[in-house]
Amino acid sequence: MNMNIACIAGDGIGPEITREALKVLGQTAAVCGHTIQREDLLMGGASIDAYGVPLTQETVERCQAADAVLMGSIGGDAKTSPWYRLSPDKRPEAGLLGLRKALRLFANLRPAFLYPELAEACPLREETAKKGFDLMLVRELTGGLYFGDRKTQEVDGVRIATDTLVYSEEEIRRVARRAFDIAMTRRKKVTSVDKANVLDSSRLWRTVTEEVAKDYPDITLEHMLVDNCAMQIVLDPAQFDVILTENMFGDILSDEASMITGSIGMLPSASLNESKFGLYEPSGGSAPDIAGKDVANPLATILSAALMLRTTFGLEKEADAVERAVRETLAEGYRTRDIASATTDKEKILGCAAMGDKVAEHVKGE
Ligand code: IPM
Ligand code: MG
Repeated sequence: MNMNIACIAGDGIGPEITREALKVLGQTAAVCGHTIQREDLLMGGASIDAYGVPLTQETVERCQAADAVLMGSIGGDAKTSPWYRLSPDKRPEAGLLGLRKALRLFANLRPAFLYPELAEACPLREETAKKGFDLMLVRELTGGLYFGDRKTQEVDGVRIATDTLVYSEEEIRRVARRAFDIAMTRRKKVTSVDKANVLDSSRLWRTVTEEVAKDYPDITLEHMLVDNCAMQIVLDPAQFDVILTENMFGDILSDEASMITGSIGMLPSASLNESKFGLYEPSGGSAPDIAGKDVANPLATILSAALMLRTTFGLEKEADAVERAVRETLAEGYRTRDIASATTDKEKILGCAAMGDKVAEHVKGE
């Protein structure tokens, strides 16, 4: 198969971590007899530097022409980077939001899985870490507070800022269906997370989710308030299979879910529309403080590439091969420093590039 991939390395650690994911993808393609055609594109801060805007129409179109997009991360240090002296709609993040919207990527999948090898890096109680967890967070990605009208005004000398949280039933239904479909391939439980004791948008979310559930008699649907969910994730993450939630809640809960896997550097993500097309990126940010130092953890990006193989290209065995390679590398004791613990052999603490090499070495065909 020929895979036509657009690559947005982005800012901060983005270029380092995508390089490693491409290395592993290249190795997988070579071993399994596929080819990759890659086009590098700019977005975020790198695009501001080159074109003055965080996202160009050309980048959108080239992404649309590709089968999938592999992304690193975008953004810089808000205190020191000149990008943050621009108005909010011209900053790096606006590029990412614009791209998600333009590509209609309404379903963001963030699987949080604790590798038994990383139990020591998990900040939860020992018994909880030992039990392990495997949850899939499905975050609505093109609606809610992120895309509602906003303004800052001054009324009688008082500054007032407004953001609006809007959801239509169709926006809720399509992402709910995606979550239920995913749950059908897993442990058949959906926890829909909202704030229905306060918000109208959450009450509609609950109603529509209940309606969708009627088409999935095998799925157990439960509702959970977002504040309780934040608590349950650290108390007993094993109770969750699929968590379905709106954009902002999903942003917050996915950082929390990633941290209990040992490091935000472990959490991959896929952003999908109705078709097989997807944008794949690690859930973490651009980490400008460690950019260019070869210490970033490339595993979330490598695992995002595995999601790409499985979801966009239907290459199940190849995706398994990448995931197995990550697992074997961890089982042999190799760690980047964010997932190292007191018992890690110092010789086995690797930089970003060396970790990519190790994983690539472990990729095997059948
Ligand atoms: C994420 C990020 C983005 C978001 C930022 C960079 C706009 O935090 O992908 O989770 O809030 O969606
Ligand atoms: Mg986030």
